[in-house]
Amino acid sequence: MEFSIFHIPILAFLAYSLQKLCVAYFHPLSNVPNAHFTTPLSRAWLLVQKYRGCENHARHAAHKRLGPIIRLGPHELSINSIEGVQTVYNNSSFERTEWFLNAFRGREAPFMVCMLRTKEHGSRKRMMASIYMKTYIQNSPVIKSLVIDVFQKSFRNELAKWAVDALTVDVMQAFQPCVTDFTTGWLFGIKARTDWLHNKSEANTFYRNFERSGADDAQQNLRQWSNEMCQKSLKTADAKNDICQDGGATHKASVCSELHTHLRKTENPEATATFLKDEMLDHVIANQIATAIVLTYVTYSLSLNPLWQTKLRSELNNLSTPQNEKFPSPRDLDSLPILDAIITETLRLYSPNPGPWPRHHPTSSCQINGGYTIPARTTISASSYTLHRNDSVFPDPEEWKPERWLEASTEQRAGMMKWFWAFGSGTRMCIGSNLALLSLKAVVKVIYSEFETEIVDGSGMEQMDSVIAGPVGDKLLLKFVKVK
Ligand code: HEM
Repeated sequence: MEFSIFHIPILAFLAYSLQKLCVAYFHPLSNVPNAHFTTPLSRAWLLVQKYRGCENHARHAAHKRLGPIIRLGPHELSINSIEGVQTVYNNSSFERTEWFLNAFRGREAPFMVCMLRTKEHGSRKRMMASIYMKTYIQNSPVIKSLVIDVFQKSFRNELAKWAVDALTVDVMQAFQPCVTDFTTGWLFGIKARTDWLHNKSEANTFYRNFERSGADDAQQNLRQWSNEMCQKSLKTADAKNDICQDGGATHKASVCSELHTHLRKTENPEATATFLKDEMLDHVIANQIATAIVLTYVTYSLSLNPLWQTKLRSELNNLSTPQNEKFPSPRDLDSLPILDAIITETLRLYSPNPGPWPRHHPTSSCQINGGYTIPARTTISASSYTLHRNDSVFPDPEEWKPERWLEASTEQRAGMMKWFWAFGSGTRMCIGSNLALLSLKAVVKVIYSEFETEIVDGSGMEQMDSVIAGPVGDKLLLKFVKVK
Protein backbone atom coordinates (compact mmCIF):
# COMPACT_ATOMS: atom_id res chain seq x y z
CA MET A 1 0.00 0.00 0.00
CA GLU A 2 1.35 3.37 -0.95
CA PHE A 3 1.44 6.24 1.51
CA SER A 4 -1.02 9.01 0.65
CA ILE A 5 -2.04 12.30 2.23
CA PHE A 6 -5.22 10.59 3.51
CA HIS A 7 -3.12 8.45 5.85
CA ILE A 8 -1.93 11.48 7.80
CA PRO A 9 -5.06 11.82 10.02
CA ILE A 10 -4.97 8.09 10.73
CA LEU A 11 -1.30 8.26 11.73
CA ALA A 12 -1.95 11.36 13.84
CA PHE A 13 -4.81 9.57 15.61
CA LEU A 14 -2.63 6.50 16.26
CA ALA A 15 0.21 8.68 17.60
CA TYR A 16 -2.25 10.55 19.85
CA SER A 17 -3.72 7.28 21.17
CA LEU A 18 -0.26 5.84 21.76
CA GLN A 19 0.80 8.92 23.67
CA LYS A 20 -2.41 8.73 25.77
CA LEU A 21 -1.83 5.05 26.51
CA CYS A 22 1.77 5.78 27.52
CA VAL A 23 0.61 8.53 29.90
CA ALA A 24 -2.07 6.20 31.21
CA TYR A 25 -0.15 3.00 31.76
CA PHE A 26 3.62 3.64 31.57
CA HIS A 27 3.56 6.95 33.40
CA PRO A 28 5.07 7.26 36.92
CA LEU A 29 1.49 7.81 38.20
CA SER A 30 0.26 4.54 36.72
CA ASN A 31 0.69 2.71 40.04
CA VAL A 32 -1.50 5.24 41.92
CA PRO A 33 -5.06 3.86 42.42
CA ASN A 34 -7.53 5.34 39.92
CA ALA A 35 -10.63 7.09 41.25
CA HIS A 36 -12.35 5.79 38.09
CA PHE A 37 -11.10 3.47 35.34
CA THR A 38 -11.02 6.39 32.90
CA THR A 39 -8.86 8.72 35.02
CA PRO A 40 -5.49 7.65 33.52
CA LEU A 41 -6.85 8.69 30.12
CA SER A 42 -8.83 11.85 30.81
CA ARG A 43 -10.20 14.33 33.37
CA ALA A 44 -13.76 13.62 32.25
CA TRP A 45 -14.75 11.80 35.47
CA LEU A 46 -13.53 14.71 37.61
CA LEU A 47 -15.23 17.30 35.40
CA VAL A 48 -18.52 15.41 35.66
CA GLN A 49 -18.27 15.41 39.49
CA LYS A 50 -17.54 19.15 39.46
CA TYR A 51 -20.44 19.78 37.08
CA ARG A 52 -22.82 17.74 39.24
CA GLY A 53 -21.67 19.64 42.36
CA CYS A 54 -20.42 16.56 44.19
CA GLU A 55 -16.65 16.72 43.78
CA ASN A 56 -15.75 16.53 47.48
CA HIS A 57 -18.26 13.72 48.11
CA ALA A 58 -16.91 11.74 45.14
CA ARG A 59 -13.28 12.22 46.18
CA HIS A 60 -14.12 11.23 49.75
CA ALA A 61 -15.89 8.04 48.60
CA ALA A 62 -12.91 7.20 46.35
CA HIS A 63 -10.41 7.74 49.19
CA LYS A 64 -12.47 5.45 51.43
CA ARG A 65 -12.30 2.72 48.79
CA LEU A 66 -8.75 3.24 47.57
CA GLY A 67 -6.65 4.82 50.33
CA PRO A 68 -4.84 8.11 50.94
CA ILE A 69 -3.71 8.87 47.40
CA ILE A 70 -5.81 8.58 44.24
CA ARG A 71 -5.50 9.56 40.59
CA LEU A 72 -8.15 11.96 39.32
CA GLY A 73 -6.80 12.54 35.83
CA PRO A 74 -3.73 11.84 33.67
CA HIS A 75 -1.73 14.45 35.63
CA GLU A 76 -3.90 15.00 38.70
CA LEU A 77 -3.99 13.50 42.21
CA SER A 78 -5.98 13.84 45.42
CA ILE A 79 -4.29 13.20 48.77
CA ASN A 80 -5.83 12.43 52.14
CA SER A 81 -3.01 11.93 54.63
CA ILE A 82 -0.98 14.09 56.99
CA GLU A 83 2.21 12.94 55.36
CA GLY A 84 0.91 13.99 51.93
CA VAL A 85 -0.36 17.36 53.23
CA GLN A 86 2.99 18.05 54.88
CA THR A 87 4.92 17.15 51.74
CA VAL A 88 2.86 19.40 49.51
CA TYR A 89 1.43 22.23 51.58
CA ASN A 90 4.21 22.73 54.11
CA ASN A 91 6.78 23.10 51.35
CA SER A 92 6.87 26.59 49.89
CA SER A 93 8.28 25.31 46.57
CA PHE A 94 4.84 23.90 45.75
CA GLU A 95 2.82 26.66 44.09
CA ARG A 96 -0.84 27.37 43.60
CA THR A 97 -2.10 26.43 40.13
CA GLU A 98 -3.82 28.62 37.51
CA TRP A 99 -7.14 27.34 38.85
CA PHE A 100 -6.98 30.13 41.47
CA LEU A 101 -6.85 32.84 38.79
CA ASN A 102 -10.07 31.56 37.24
CA ALA A 103 -11.84 30.83 40.52
CA PHE A 104 -11.12 34.23 42.13
CA ARG A 105 -10.80 36.54 39.12
CA GLY A 106 -7.17 37.25 39.90
CA ARG A 107 -5.78 38.00 36.46
CA GLU A 108 -6.01 41.79 36.43
CA ALA A 109 -4.08 42.70 39.56
CA PRO A 110 -3.30 39.61 41.55
CA PHE A 111 -4.01 39.79 45.23
CA MET A 112 -2.39 37.33 47.62
CA VAL A 113 -4.76 34.38 47.08
CA CYS A 114 -4.05 34.57 43.35
CA MET A 115 -0.29 35.04 43.54
CA LEU A 116 0.95 31.77 42.14
CA ARG A 117 4.73 32.27 42.34
CA THR A 118 6.34 31.64 45.73
CA LYS A 119 8.56 34.74 45.62
CA GLU A 120 5.80 37.18 44.68
CA HIS A 121 3.50 35.69 47.31
CA GLY A 122 6.18 35.76 50.03
CA SER A 123 6.87 39.42 49.50
CA ARG A 124 3.14 40.39 49.75
CA LYS A 125 2.61 38.16 52.77
CA ARG A 126 5.54 39.71 54.65
CA MET A 127 3.83 43.12 54.30
CA MET A 128 0.83 41.93 56.33
CA ALA A 129 2.00 38.95 58.38
CA SER A 130 2.79 40.81 61.61
CA ILE A 131 -0.54 42.67 61.79
CA TYR A 132 -2.47 39.36 61.47
CA MET A 133 -0.52 37.57 64.22
CA LYS A 134 -2.51 36.22 67.14
CA THR A 135 -0.72 38.22 69.85
CA TYR A 136 -0.95 41.40 67.78
CA ILE A 137 -4.70 40.94 67.32
CA GLN A 138 -5.27 40.02 70.96
CA ASN A 139 -3.49 43.17 72.17
CA SER A 140 -4.85 45.56 69.57
CA PRO A 141 -6.88 48.54 70.90
CA VAL A 142 -8.60 48.66 67.50
CA ILE A 143 -9.93 45.14 68.04
CA LYS A 144 -10.96 45.97 71.62
CA SER A 145 -12.95 48.95 70.47
CA LEU A 146 -14.53 47.09 67.53
CA VAL A 147 -15.65 44.17 69.69
CA ILE A 148 -17.49 46.59 71.97
CA ASP A 149 -18.94 48.94 69.33
CA VAL A 150 -19.94 46.37 66.73
CA PHE A 151 -20.68 43.18 68.67
CA GLN A 152 -21.47 44.21 72.22
CA LYS A 153 -23.46 47.38 71.38
CA SER A 154 -24.86 47.37 67.83
CA PHE A 155 -25.29 43.63 67.30
CA ARG A 156 -26.58 43.06 70.85
CA ASN A 157 -29.20 45.78 70.28
CA GLU A 158 -30.37 43.89 67.19
CA LEU A 159 -30.57 40.66 69.19
CA ALA A 160 -32.60 42.38 71.90
CA LYS A 161 -35.01 43.77 69.27
CA TRP A 162 -35.42 40.36 67.63
CA ALA A 163 -36.16 38.80 71.02
CA VAL A 164 -38.63 41.49 72.19
CA ASP A 165 -40.54 41.46 68.90
CA ALA A 166 -40.33 37.63 68.68
CA LEU A 167 -39.05 38.02 65.12
CA THR A 168 -38.09 35.18 62.82
CA VAL A 169 -34.57 36.01 61.63
CA ASP A 170 -32.66 34.64 58.66
CA VAL A 171 -29.31 34.48 60.40
CA MET A 172 -27.35 33.62 57.26
CA GLN A 173 -28.20 37.15 56.06
CA ALA A 174 -28.14 38.81 59.48
CA PHE A 175 -24.59 37.77 60.38
CA GLN A 176 -23.02 39.25 57.26
CA PRO A 177 -23.32 43.00 58.07
CA CYS A 178 -22.24 42.37 61.65
CA VAL A 179 -19.12 40.51 60.52
CA THR A 180 -18.37 43.10 57.82
CA ASP A 181 -18.63 46.08 60.19
CA PHE A 182 -16.05 44.37 62.39
CA THR A 183 -13.71 43.37 59.55
CA THR A 184 -13.83 46.70 57.76
CA GLY A 185 -12.92 48.38 61.07
CA TRP A 186 -9.84 46.16 61.19
CA LEU A 187 -9.01 46.55 57.49
CA PHE A 188 -9.76 50.25 56.98
CA GLY A 189 -9.67 51.63 60.54
CA ILE A 190 -12.33 52.50 63.10
CA LYS A 191 -13.19 55.87 61.54
CA ALA A 192 -13.53 54.52 58.01
CA ARG A 193 -15.43 51.29 58.74
CA THR A 194 -18.85 50.39 57.38
CA ASP A 195 -21.96 50.61 59.55
CA TRP A 196 -24.10 48.10 57.71
CA LEU A 197 -25.94 47.00 60.83
CA HIS A 198 -27.63 50.41 60.52
CA ASN A 199 -27.05 51.41 56.91
CA LYS A 200 -28.90 48.58 55.17
CA SER A 201 -29.09 50.21 51.73
CA GLU A 202 -25.29 50.51 51.42
CA ALA A 203 -25.00 46.88 52.50
CA ASN A 204 -27.60 45.76 49.97
CA THR A 205 -25.81 47.55 47.11
CA PHE A 206 -22.62 45.66 48.03
CA TYR A 207 -24.45 42.30 48.26
CA ARG A 208 -26.18 42.84 44.90
CA ASN A 209 -22.80 43.47 43.26
CA PHE A 210 -21.27 40.54 45.09
CA GLU A 211 -23.98 38.13 43.93
CA ARG A 212 -23.25 39.17 40.33
CA SER A 213 -19.48 39.42 40.85
CA GLY A 214 -18.83 37.22 37.80
CA ALA A 215 -20.12 40.12 35.65
CA ASP A 216 -17.58 42.80 34.69
CA ASP A 217 -19.71 45.79 35.76
CA ALA A 218 -20.43 44.29 39.20
CA GLN A 219 -16.74 43.49 39.65
CA GLN A 220 -15.85 47.08 38.74
CA ASN A 221 -18.38 48.37 41.28
CA LEU A 222 -16.87 46.23 44.04
CA ARG A 223 -13.35 47.38 43.20
CA GLN A 224 -14.54 50.99 43.07
CA TRP A 225 -16.15 50.56 46.51
CA SER A 226 -12.90 49.13 47.87
CA ASN A 227 -10.91 51.98 46.34
CA GLU A 228 -13.15 54.55 48.08
CA MET A 229 -12.78 52.68 51.38
CA CYS A 230 -8.98 52.71 50.99
CA GLN A 231 -8.93 56.44 50.26
CA LYS A 232 -11.11 57.13 53.28
CA SER A 233 -8.92 54.87 55.39
CA LEU A 234 -5.67 56.59 54.41
CA LYS A 235 -7.21 60.03 55.03
CA THR A 236 -8.44 59.13 58.50
CA ALA A 237 -5.31 57.27 59.65
CA ASP A 238 -2.88 59.29 61.72
CA ALA A 239 -1.38 61.45 58.97
CA LYS A 240 2.10 61.33 60.41
CA ASN A 241 2.67 57.74 61.36
CA ASP A 242 -0.39 55.72 60.33
CA ILE A 243 -0.80 54.63 63.91
CA CYS A 244 -3.23 54.95 66.75
CA GLN A 245 -2.28 55.49 70.38
CA ASP A 246 -3.38 53.42 73.34
CA GLY A 247 -2.03 54.23 76.78
CA GLY A 248 1.42 55.02 75.46
CA ALA A 249 1.65 51.96 73.18
CA THR A 250 1.42 52.51 69.44
CA HIS A 251 -0.54 50.26 67.09
CA LYS A 252 -1.11 50.23 63.36
CA ALA A 253 -4.39 51.96 62.61
CA SER A 254 -5.44 49.49 59.91
CA VAL A 255 -4.28 46.74 57.56
CA CYS A 256 -4.86 49.20 54.72
CA SER A 257 -2.41 51.81 56.03
CA GLU A 258 0.14 49.12 56.90
CA LEU A 259 -0.03 47.59 53.43
CA HIS A 260 0.02 51.03 51.80
CA THR A 261 3.22 51.93 53.69
CA HIS A 262 4.95 48.82 52.29
CA LEU A 263 3.55 48.92 48.77
CA ARG A 264 4.56 52.51 48.09
CA LYS A 265 8.20 51.64 48.83
CA THR A 266 8.40 49.42 45.75
CA GLU A 267 5.42 50.31 43.51
CA ASN A 268 4.39 53.43 41.62
CA PRO A 269 1.29 55.29 42.92
CA GLU A 270 -1.04 53.75 40.34
CA ALA A 271 0.07 50.17 41.04
CA THR A 272 -0.04 50.84 44.79
CA ALA A 273 -3.67 51.98 44.56
CA THR A 274 -4.66 48.98 42.42
CA PHE A 275 -2.94 46.36 44.58
CA LEU A 276 -4.32 47.95 47.73
CA LYS A 277 -7.98 48.04 46.64
CA ASP A 278 -7.90 44.46 45.30
CA GLU A 279 -6.15 42.99 48.35
CA MET A 280 -8.51 44.74 50.77
CA LEU A 281 -11.60 43.72 48.79
CA ASP A 282 -10.50 40.11 48.91
CA HIS A 283 -10.10 40.23 52.70
CA VAL A 284 -13.57 41.76 53.12
CA ILE A 285 -15.12 39.01 51.01
CA ALA A 286 -13.00 36.15 52.45
CA ASN A 287 -14.18 36.98 55.94
CA GLN A 288 -17.77 37.97 55.31
CA ILE A 289 -18.89 34.74 53.66
CA ALA A 290 -16.83 32.18 55.59
CA THR A 291 -17.52 33.64 59.02
CA ALA A 292 -21.25 34.08 58.35
CA ILE A 293 -21.45 30.42 57.23
CA VAL A 294 -19.69 29.21 60.39
CA LEU A 295 -21.92 31.33 62.64
CA THR A 296 -24.97 29.96 60.84
CA TYR A 297 -23.87 26.38 61.51
CA VAL A 298 -22.89 27.17 65.12
CA THR A 299 -26.34 28.59 65.87
CA TYR A 300 -28.00 25.73 63.94
CA SER A 301 -26.09 23.05 65.87
CA LEU A 302 -26.68 24.75 69.21
CA SER A 303 -30.39 25.15 68.45
CA LEU A 304 -30.58 21.40 67.80
CA ASN A 305 -28.69 20.78 71.08
CA PRO A 306 -30.18 22.98 73.85
CA LEU A 307 -28.09 21.14 76.45
CA TRP A 308 -24.94 22.55 74.83
CA GLN A 309 -26.50 26.03 74.97
CA THR A 310 -26.90 25.64 78.72
CA LYS A 311 -23.32 24.40 79.20
CA LEU A 312 -21.96 27.20 77.03
CA ARG A 313 -23.99 29.88 78.83
CA SER A 314 -22.75 28.72 82.19
CA GLU A 315 -19.14 28.90 80.98
CA LEU A 316 -19.64 32.33 79.41
CA ASN A 317 -21.36 33.81 82.43
CA ASN A 318 -18.63 32.60 84.77
CA LEU A 319 -16.07 34.52 82.76
CA SER A 320 -15.09 37.72 84.52
CA THR A 321 -14.63 41.00 82.71
CA PRO A 322 -11.50 42.95 83.71
CA GLN A 323 -12.06 46.02 85.87
CA ASN A 324 -13.10 49.14 83.90
CA GLU A 325 -13.66 46.98 80.79
CA LYS A 326 -16.96 46.22 79.06
CA PHE A 327 -16.03 42.88 77.52
CA PRO A 328 -13.74 39.95 78.43
CA SER A 329 -10.28 40.22 76.96
CA PRO A 330 -9.63 38.28 73.70
CA ARG A 331 -7.14 36.13 75.59
CA ASP A 332 -9.71 35.17 78.27
CA LEU A 333 -12.31 34.46 75.60
CA ASP A 334 -9.82 32.24 73.82
CA SER A 335 -9.22 30.21 76.99
CA LEU A 336 -12.82 28.92 77.30
CA PRO A 337 -12.82 25.17 76.58
CA ILE A 338 -16.53 24.72 75.76
CA LEU A 339 -16.66 27.76 73.48
CA ASP A 340 -13.49 26.56 71.76
CA ALA A 341 -14.81 23.00 71.36
CA ILE A 342 -18.07 24.28 69.82
CA ILE A 343 -16.29 26.50 67.29
CA THR A 344 -13.65 23.89 66.40
CA GLU A 345 -16.22 21.11 65.97
CA THR A 346 -18.37 23.33 63.75
CA LEU A 347 -15.35 24.23 61.62
CA ARG A 348 -14.55 20.51 61.38
CA LEU A 349 -17.98 19.30 60.32
CA TYR A 350 -19.07 22.36 58.34
CA SER A 351 -15.80 23.69 57.01
CA PRO A 352 -16.95 26.76 55.02
CA ASN A 353 -13.98 26.61 52.61
CA PRO A 354 -13.51 22.86 52.23
CA GLY A 355 -11.41 23.08 49.07
CA PRO A 356 -9.94 21.18 47.30
CA TRP A 357 -6.96 23.56 47.07
CA PRO A 358 -4.70 22.60 44.14
CA ARG A 359 -0.89 22.86 44.09
CA HIS A 360 1.94 21.70 41.85
CA HIS A 361 5.71 21.68 41.95
CA PRO A 362 6.88 23.66 38.91
CA THR A 363 10.24 21.95 38.47
CA SER A 364 10.89 18.89 40.66
CA SER A 365 9.35 15.51 41.26
CA CYS A 366 8.59 14.39 44.82
CA GLN A 367 7.80 11.28 46.84
CA ILE A 368 4.43 10.95 48.58
CA ASN A 369 2.77 8.24 50.66
CA GLY A 370 4.83 5.11 50.66
CA GLY A 371 7.13 6.07 47.88
CA TYR A 372 4.90 7.11 44.98
CA THR A 373 7.05 9.27 42.71
CA ILE A 374 5.10 12.28 41.53
CA PRO A 375 6.48 14.11 38.48
CA ALA A 376 6.86 17.91 38.44
CA ARG A 377 3.73 19.88 37.43
CA THR A 378 1.34 17.16 38.59
CA THR A 379 -1.70 18.85 40.15
CA ILE A 380 -2.12 17.65 43.74
CA SER A 381 -4.87 18.68 46.11
CA ALA A 382 -6.32 17.97 49.52
CA SER A 383 -9.61 19.09 51.04
CA SER A 384 -10.73 19.62 54.62
CA TYR A 385 -13.99 17.89 53.69
CA THR A 386 -12.12 14.59 53.35
CA LEU A 387 -9.41 15.15 55.98
CA HIS A 388 -12.08 16.01 58.58
CA ARG A 389 -13.94 12.76 57.91
CA ASN A 390 -11.17 10.32 58.77
CA ASP A 391 -13.09 8.05 61.14
CA SER A 392 -9.98 6.68 62.84
CA VAL A 393 -9.22 10.25 64.01
CA PHE A 394 -12.80 11.56 64.31
CA PRO A 395 -15.11 8.63 65.20
CA ASP A 396 -18.70 9.23 63.93
CA PRO A 397 -17.34 11.92 61.62
CA GLU A 398 -20.78 13.05 60.42
CA GLU A 399 -21.93 13.81 63.98
CA TRP A 400 -21.53 17.27 65.59
CA LYS A 401 -19.82 16.32 68.85
CA PRO A 402 -18.02 19.14 70.74
CA GLU A 403 -17.24 16.60 73.45
CA ARG A 404 -14.65 14.95 71.20
CA TRP A 405 -12.44 18.02 71.81
CA LEU A 406 -13.21 18.28 75.53
CA GLU A 407 -12.73 14.63 76.42
CA ALA A 408 -9.57 14.08 74.39
CA SER A 409 -6.23 13.68 76.17
CA THR A 410 -3.52 16.20 75.31
CA GLU A 411 -2.00 13.64 72.97
CA GLN A 412 -5.33 12.81 71.26
CA ARG A 413 -6.13 16.48 70.84
CA ALA A 414 -2.74 17.12 69.24
CA GLY A 415 -3.45 14.18 66.89
CA MET A 416 -6.86 15.64 65.91
CA MET A 417 -5.36 19.10 65.38
CA LYS A 418 -2.94 17.63 62.85
CA TRP A 419 -5.95 16.62 60.75
CA PHE A 420 -7.86 19.86 61.40
CA TRP A 421 -7.51 21.80 58.17
CA ALA A 422 -10.29 24.42 58.10
CA PHE A 423 -7.70 27.17 57.49
CA GLY A 424 -5.28 25.06 55.42
CA SER A 425 -1.64 24.81 56.47
CA GLY A 426 1.89 25.90 55.60
CA THR A 427 2.95 29.14 53.97
CA ARG A 428 -0.37 29.52 52.13
CA MET A 429 -2.49 28.97 55.23
CA CYS A 430 -5.31 31.47 55.81
CA ILE A 431 -3.78 34.75 56.96
CA GLY A 432 -7.05 35.73 58.68
CA SER A 433 -7.49 32.64 60.87
CA ASN A 434 -6.80 34.46 64.17
CA LEU A 435 -9.09 37.33 63.26
CA ALA A 436 -11.82 34.90 62.18
CA LEU A 437 -11.58 32.84 65.39
CA LEU A 438 -11.72 35.93 67.56
CA SER A 439 -14.77 37.33 65.78
CA LEU A 440 -16.54 33.94 65.87
CA LYS A 441 -15.95 33.58 69.60
CA ALA A 442 -16.99 37.16 70.37
CA VAL A 443 -20.26 36.91 68.40
CA VAL A 444 -21.15 33.56 69.99
CA LYS A 445 -20.39 35.04 73.42
CA VAL A 446 -22.71 38.01 72.78
CA ILE A 447 -25.55 35.76 71.63
CA TYR A 448 -25.44 32.90 74.14
CA SER A 449 -24.64 34.89 77.32
CA GLU A 450 -28.15 36.31 77.18
CA PHE A 451 -30.23 34.56 74.54
CA GLU A 452 -31.46 31.12 73.53
CA THR A 453 -31.95 30.20 69.90
CA GLU A 454 -34.72 28.03 68.43
CA ILE A 455 -35.12 26.80 64.88
CA VAL A 456 -38.16 28.09 62.98
CA ASP A 457 -37.14 26.64 59.60
CA GLY A 458 -34.02 24.52 59.30
CA SER A 459 -34.73 23.09 55.87
CA GLY A 460 -31.93 23.22 53.30
CA MET A 461 -29.16 23.14 55.89
CA GLU A 462 -27.21 20.37 54.10
CA GLN A 463 -23.95 21.93 53.04
CA MET A 464 -23.18 22.67 49.41
CA ASP A 465 -20.36 20.68 47.83
CA SER A 466 -18.25 23.58 46.57
CA VAL A 467 -15.08 25.50 47.33
CA ILE A 468 -17.10 28.00 49.38
CA ALA A 469 -19.82 25.96 51.02
CA GLY A 470 -22.88 27.48 52.67
CA PRO A 471 -26.23 25.76 53.29
CA VAL A 472 -27.97 24.64 50.07
CA GLY A 473 -31.06 26.63 51.10
CA ASP A 474 -28.88 29.75 51.67
CA LYS A 475 -30.90 30.55 54.80
CA LEU A 476 -31.56 29.54 58.40
CA LEU A 477 -34.61 30.91 60.17
CA LEU A 478 -34.19 31.25 63.94
CA LYS A 479 -35.99 32.80 66.89
CA PHE A 480 -34.08 34.48 69.72
CA VAL A 481 -35.44 34.27 73.27
CA LYS A 482 -34.01 36.31 76.14
CA VAL A 483 -32.93 34.05 78.98
CA LYS A 484 -34.69 34.88 82.26
C1 HEM B 1 -13.92 31.11 59.18
C2 HEM B 1 -13.25 31.93 58.43
C3 HEM B 1 -12.23 31.55 57.40
C4 HEM B 1 -11.94 30.32 56.84
C5 HEM B 1 -12.57 28.98 57.15
C6 HEM B 1 -10.86 30.53 55.88
C7 HEM B 1 -10.25 29.52 55.14
C8 HEM B 1 -9.15 29.69 54.33
C9 HEM B 1 -8.40 28.63 53.70
C10 HEM B 1 -8.72 27.14 53.79
C11 HEM B 1 -7.37 29.19 53.01
C12 HEM B 1 -6.25 28.45 52.29
C13 HEM B 1 -6.49 28.16 50.82
C14 HEM B 1 -5.32 27.38 50.22
O1 HEM B 1 -4.67 26.59 50.92
O2 HEM B 1 -5.06 27.55 49.02
C15 HEM B 1 -7.48 30.63 53.19
C16 HEM B 1 -6.62 31.56 52.64
C17 HEM B 1 -6.76 32.91 52.81
N1 HEM B 1 -7.66 33.56 53.64
FE1 HEM B 1 -9.03 32.70 54.81
N2 HEM B 1 -10.55 31.86 55.87
C18 HEM B 1 -11.34 32.52 56.79
C19 HEM B 1 -11.31 33.85 57.14
C20 HEM B 1 -10.46 34.76 56.58
C21 HEM B 1 -10.31 36.13 57.01
C22 HEM B 1 -10.93 36.72 58.26
C23 HEM B 1 -9.43 36.73 56.16
C24 HEM B 1 -8.90 38.14 56.16
C25 HEM B 1 -9.47 39.15 56.73
C26 HEM B 1 -8.99 35.72 55.22
C27 HEM B 1 -8.11 35.93 54.20
C28 HEM B 1 -7.45 34.92 53.53
C29 HEM B 1 -6.36 35.16 52.59
C30 HEM B 1 -5.80 36.52 52.19
C31 HEM B 1 -5.91 33.90 52.16
C32 HEM B 1 -4.76 33.62 51.20
C33 HEM B 1 -3.52 33.40 52.03
C34 HEM B 1 -2.27 33.22 51.18
O3 HEM B 1 -2.35 33.08 49.97
O4 HEM B 1 -1.18 33.21 51.78
N3 HEM B 1 -9.64 34.54 55.50
N4 HEM B 1 -8.56 30.90 54.01
